[in-house]
Amino acid sequence: MNDLNVIVDSAQTAFAQAVTPADLENAKALFLGKSGRITELMKGMAALSVDEKKSRGAAINIAKQAIETALTNRRQALADAELQAQLRAEALDVSLPGRQRGQGGLHPVSLTLERIEAIFGSMGFDVAQGPEIESDWFNFTALNTPEDHPARSMHDTFYVEGGSETAPNLLRTHTSPMQIRYAVQHVKKYSSKANGGEGKGLFSGDMPEIRVIAPGRTYRVDSDATHSPMFHQCEGLWVGENVSFKDLKFVFTDFCRTFFESDDLVLRFRPSFFPFTEPSAEIDIQFQTGPLAGRWLEVAGSGQVHPNVVSNMGLDPEKYIGFAFGMGPDRLTMLRYGVNDLRLFFDGDVRFLSQFQ
Ligand code: DAH
Repeated sequence: MNDLNVIVDSAQTAFAQAVTPADLENAKALFLGKSGRITELMKGMAALSVDEKKSRGAAINIAKQAIETALTNRRQALADAELQAQLRAEALDVSLPGRQRGQGGLHPVSLTLERIEAIFGSMGFDVAQGPEIESDWFNFTALNTPEDHPARSMHDTFYVEGGSETAPNLLRTHTSPMQIRYAVQHVKKYSSKANGGEGKGLFSGDMPEIRVIAPGRTYRVDSDATHSPMFHQCEGLWVGENVSFKDLKFVFTDFCRTFFESDDLVLRFRPSFFPFTEPSAEIDIQFQTGPLAGRWLEVAGSGQVHPNVVSNMGLDPEKYIGFAFGMGPDRLTMLRYGVNDLRLFFDGDVRFLSQFQ
């Protein structure tokens, strides 16, 4: 092997041993730099004859080109290796399924409330909302339940500080106060301008009938598998000049059959007592098929609005008559989906709630 081959060979070895671009540039300087081995050989040619210069110069050039080629190849190899390392470090597994954010859905009781509103809406009922912190007046007294009335003790009431008979002092124990609130607004709207109304003619006899449902949260000091301190009710009220118990039966039967999608559902109006209705009835339903078939299930209280209550609405009980009902959307939801513990609705457990989406 001549001296040039030895140099080329050692350059190739040095380049191959360089593992970083900086190593490689240092190795390059040893051969091609200002005082590198090839440069030194070039300088040494000064002493040669013209013919010798030609052949030696050509041979050195070939060696130099070989070294440059080795350098270029090694540079490329190091750049490729660096790119590969970077790609490996930043690798994305595109076959992994993406991280999904769970999609929320409506609470089962909200689904029931929406359903109740849609069904009664289709029968011409308005939907009203009212305050959850109520006064004695709306929650009891105006509903024909004066202070010493025994029916008050059946409503285990949460009282709040402050308030009075007429200012908010309790958490409403039912949605029935909305009967009074809504009716009073309605009467005001249709009474004469002199009375602060819009003058649409309550007293000229063309007041539209009061037809409203009022869903919402209600509260009682009570807690077990079928009672929760916070629960839902939905009130219904229909008052006009000629509204009878027959209308209540028709409306509520139609509602229940639509709600449960069951045309052969049977209803029973069982005599009962509520201070704000006379006569009063508990409404029971019976499925003819399915797991609950044959059992009477209580779903609502109802009755003809008591004359004292009609009076507290600002209406003449000799002229206006109607019916009211109050049902439990939580219970309707339990019956519809076959849920046996009310507390599941309020525990906030996603494993339970996600089943309703
Ligand atoms: N408010 C009653 C309760 O919570 C339910 C009720 C009964 C509402 C009869 C009514 C009704 O409107 O007419 O127990």
